[in-house]
Amino acid sequence: MNLKSSIDRLRSSLLVKNQQSTASSEKPPTTPEIVQEGASGNAPTNVTPACYQFELFPEYKEYTTMKWYYEKQKFPQNLFQPHVGGSDATVMIQGREYINYSTYNYLALGFETRVKQASIQAIEDFGVGTGSGRSITGEIDIHRTFELEVCDALGTEDAVLSVGGYSTNAFTIGYLSRSQDLILYDELIHNSALIGCKITGSRRIAFPHNDLEALEQLLKTHRSNFERVFILVEGVYSMDGDIPNIPRFIELKKKYQALLMVDEAHSLGVIGKRGMGVTDYFDISGSEIDILFGSLSKSFGTCGGFVAGPKPLIAMLKYYAPGVLLYGASPTPANAAAALEALRVMRAEPERALRLQQNAAYFIERAQAAGLDTYNSRDSGVVPIMMRDSELALWMSVRLFEAGICTYPMMYPIVPRNKCRLRFFINTNHTQQQIDHTLNVITGLLKVAPKSKGIF
Ligand SMILES: Cc1ncc(COP(=O)(O)O)c(C=O)c1O
Repeated sequence: MNLKSSIDRLRSSLLVKNQQSTASSEKPPTTPEIVQEGASGNAPTNVTPACYQFELFPEYKEYTTMKWYYEKQKFPQNLFQPHVGGSDATVMIQGREYINYSTYNYLALGFETRVKQASIQAIEDFGVGTGSGRSITGEIDIHRTFELEVCDALGTEDAVLSVGGYSTNAFTIGYLSRSQDLILYDELIHNSALIGCKITGSRRIAFPHNDLEALEQLLKTHRSNFERVFILVEGVYSMDGDIPNIPRFIELKKKYQALLMVDEAHSLGVIGKRGMGVTDYFDISGSEIDILFGSLSKSFGTCGGFVAGPKPLIAMLKYYAPGVLLYGASPTPANAAAALEALRVMRAEPERALRLQQNAAYFIERAQAAGLDTYNSRDSGVVPIMMRDSELALWMSVRLFEAGICTYPMMYPIVPRNKCRLRFFINTNHTQQQIDHTLNVITGLLKVAPKSKGIF
C-alpha cells in the first residue's frame, strides 16, 4: 500500500472526530428523490457490495489503515487502554501509573468518596435504573433537586437534567431551530452542536473564532431574513482553552434580538472565582444567557447533561424535545446522585477550581519559559502545546506514553492541518513536580524528534 495514500485516509480517522473545521456557510443538504423503481419485485441491479458489506465501507478502510500505520511505525496502541481506579492527575493502566493529562475529570470528583457514596446510596434507594422516561414514572426526587440546585448556582430560572451531554446539546439545538431560522456558530464549536445544527434544516453559518465583528456583520446582513436566530459559543473552547467575551456576545444578541446558547462543558467547575463557569468568570447572572448547556462528564465527574434557562424554554424541552427527555431513558439514580453531590462539593470547595487554575497558570508559564507554544489558552483547564505537524504530534504522544505521561495528539481533521497539538487537560490534583517533569520530558523529546516526512 502506498504510504502517501494511506496517510491521506488516515488523516480523517486517527482520533474521534469530536471537532471539525467547518465551511464558513452551509446550506442544508438535499436528499435524493424517492423514485418508484423495483416495484416489479426484482432485485435491484445497481447496488454495489460496498453499500451493504461493512468491511467494504470506506470508513472501515480508514480504520484498517490506521491500524496498519500504527503497526508500521511500531507504535504501541494507546487507545482504548482500560484503566483501574480513578482517572484524574494520575491513571493506572496495565499496572503502570501515568501522569495523566487525558481526563476532563477536572476537579477529581469522579472518584471522590462523598460522590461515590451518594451514588451507591441512590442505587440502594432506587436501583440501577428508573424503569422509564422521566415523565412517565421515571422521575426520582434527585433529578429535580439537581435541577433546582444548579439553577441556584447559576442564577437561571429553571433547568432540565438529561441522560447524555452530547445528546442534550445536539437535541436542544435540533428541537429549537427550524427551516425558517438561522444558526450562527463559532467555527470551533463542538461536534455535538454541529450535529444539532445539521438535524434542524436551518440555515447555518460559521463565524471566525471569537470574531465579534464578523458575527455582527452576519447579524446585520441576515437577521431580518429569519425568524429565530441562534448564536452558539462555548464557555471554554475544548481545543484551544480560550474563553470568549461572553458579555459582548450578550450585547450583540440583545441588539439583534437573537438567542445566545453557551456550551459550558469545559467552563463550569473550572473558571471563575468560585469555579462556577462563565457567569462567575464574568460576574453576570445566568439569566443573561438564553440557553446554558452543561455536561456532567467533565467537572462533575459522571455522565449526563443539562440545560438551564428561562422557565418556558425548560418547559418545552421537558415536554416536547425528543432526545432531551422525550423518547429516551432518564438519568440513572447513580448518575443523578453523583451529579448532585459533585455540584454540592464543587460549591462547598471552590479551592478545587482555584487549585486547577493555579496549576494551569503554572503549566503555561513553565511551558512558555521552555519555548513551547501554548497558543490561546488562558484561565482554563485546557492547554495545548502546538506541534509543527501531525506526524510530530503523534510521535510525541506515543513517546510520552512510553515515558509514563498520558496525553493525546489533536490532528487534522479535529483541528486545522497547521494547528496540530498535544492537548493537556489540567487537573486540580496535578502537582508542580508532575508539571515540571512533563515539560522536561517534552523538551527533551523535541530535541531528538525525527524529521517529519511531510506525509501527513
Ligand atoms: C465542548 C463540548 N460540548 C459537549 C460535549 C459532550 O458532552 P458529554 O461528554 O457529556 O457527552 C463535549 C464532550 O467532550 C464537549 O467537549
